[in-house]
Amino acid sequence: MLLVAGLVGRGEARQAKTLAEIKTSKSITVCADPDNLPFSSRDPGAPGYDVDVMRLVAAELGAEAEFKWVSTVSARRALANLTEGECDLFPGLPVSPGFANEYPRLAFSRPYYTMRHVIVARAEAGIGGVSDLRGGPTAVEALSPADLFLLGKGYPRRAYRTQEAAFAAVRSGEARTALLWVPKAGWLVQRSGVSDLTMTRVADADLAVDVGVAFPRMDQALAAALDQAIAKLRANGTIASTLGRYGVPLVDGRESTARTILPVAWLPRRAQRVVQLAQAPGATPDPIEGRFLFESNCEQCHGIDGRGGGAVPPLRAYPLGGEERFVRAVLEGRNARGMPPWGGLLTDVQARSIFAYVHALVPVIETAPNAPLEEQARQVFGQICATCHGREGGGTRIAPSLQAFKGTDEQFIGTVLDGRQGTAMAPYRSVFSPEVARKIREYVRALVRTN
Ligand code: HEC
Ligand code: HEC
Repeated sequence: MLLVAGLVGRGEARQAKTLAEIKTSKSITVCADPDNLPFSSRDPGAPGYDVDVMRLVAAELGAEAEFKWVSTVSARRALANLTEGECDLFPGLPVSPGFANEYPRLAFSRPYYTMRHVIVARAEAGIGGVSDLRGGPTAVEALSPADLFLLGKGYPRRAYRTQEAAFAAVRSGEARTALLWVPKAGWLVQRSGVSDLTMTRVADADLAVDVGVAFPRMDQALAAALDQAIAKLRANGTIASTLGRYGVPLVDGRESTARTILPVAWLPRRAQRVVQLAQAPGATPDPIEGRFLFESNCEQCHGIDGRGGGAVPPLRAYPLGGEERFVRAVLEGRNARGMPPWGGLLTDVQARSIFAYVHALVPVIETAPNAPLEEQARQVFGQICATCHGREGGGTRIAPSLQAFKGTDEQFIGTVLDGRQGTAMAPYRSVFSPEVARKIREYVRALVRTN
């Protein structure tokens, strides 16, 4: 009975159409951003080229495209529309293994164009190519491929929340140059009315992203039909001329353009978990949320244990009073030195959640050194270990139970002093003495007994 009910329930839920259903109903629903020109817009007078291209693709499938307008500010939320069956296709997404890995329930068509970058500068800056950006700073969208590209090269950069803001920085003279998506830059330059702006194309392969259409299910027939439609529209020049209408030029005989999805969506795989902006205001800091935020946003530079690497210095130990300094560093960033500003992307409370976690990751202990060892152990446990292992040592989502520890005392103490490489379990040898570690073992044992 239950099984039958389950099946019925699933049958009634909305589901994206198969190719056969598209052909019978002669209709296909496409999700697109209502306000993201030149990519897409709900304004029928200037719909954007993703909309135009999707109309052409739909016609190739024997259907008419209907649009459902969804904001792409959060890529994850936008793409949920596909898995929930609210639309059948979502154009303008990177066709890359990293991105596809993040969305295992989606499939991606072959690309209909390759998005590239340009350097926007004042004519007098005399920009001839990427190497001229060394004299920086260059304005970029925070955490976009351009941002990571310049970081990798060690060139000075200044991060902004959007392509538009990075462009405005060049316009106002705040930045000498900006590294932007080709179509967005062309669109903005055209509309700015500033005549002495130059656009220098960047050929670097790291800055070329193939863009295709996502769809929600492994319908082989739909995948083949989409690929065929795109191949035909590319070969007969229809896509090129559509992009051309929006001032997006061709490169290397390929259509060259771009799209702004939420920047974090373009990050390397580990970093792609979307920044959580949904936290209610006034919520209290939570080290466990802090850990997830740290992993999503900070770990790729600061390292899993906060010890840095390459150009990134280890996060300093922040005594408890250092919270304000930490939060300021995170929200304001140190842009010229490669630390992005997170204000606007993370809330104050979220920065404090990260602090609560980092404080445990890179500990300072505030115990009186002359206090009895038992007292030191108790304080260390409360100030450091409890953040990850829980108040009672019973374990949390981010660290195992210490009450359930099955090894010997020596193994426990060894783990505490030497840590576990490649995990958040840091070595504490330089933080407290082996005698204190032994007392912590006893303290945990006592916790087990009292529970
Ligand atoms: C793109 C690389 C990158 C990312 C991502 C990044 N940082 Fe940084 N961070 C840096 C660099 C480089 C510095 C050093 C800046 C300097 O020299 O002043 C730094 C410095 C800091 C500092 C000040 C250093 C200190 O100990 O006083 C704090 C705090 C910090 N980062 C926290 C964070 C947090 C929290 C996140 C995630 C929300 C984060 N960072 C994400 C690169 C990064
Ligand atoms: C930043 C989070 C964090 C903090 C702080 C932390 N731990 Fe851990 N700890 C971990 C994680 C994660 C593991 C699991 C490591 C692994 O996967 O092997 C772990 C493992 C351990 C283990 C081995 C458990 C087992 O079953 O193998 C012991 C013992 C331990 N921690 C003790 C401590 C003590 C004592 C402290 C305080 C001095 C402490 N930890 C602080 C995250 C933390």
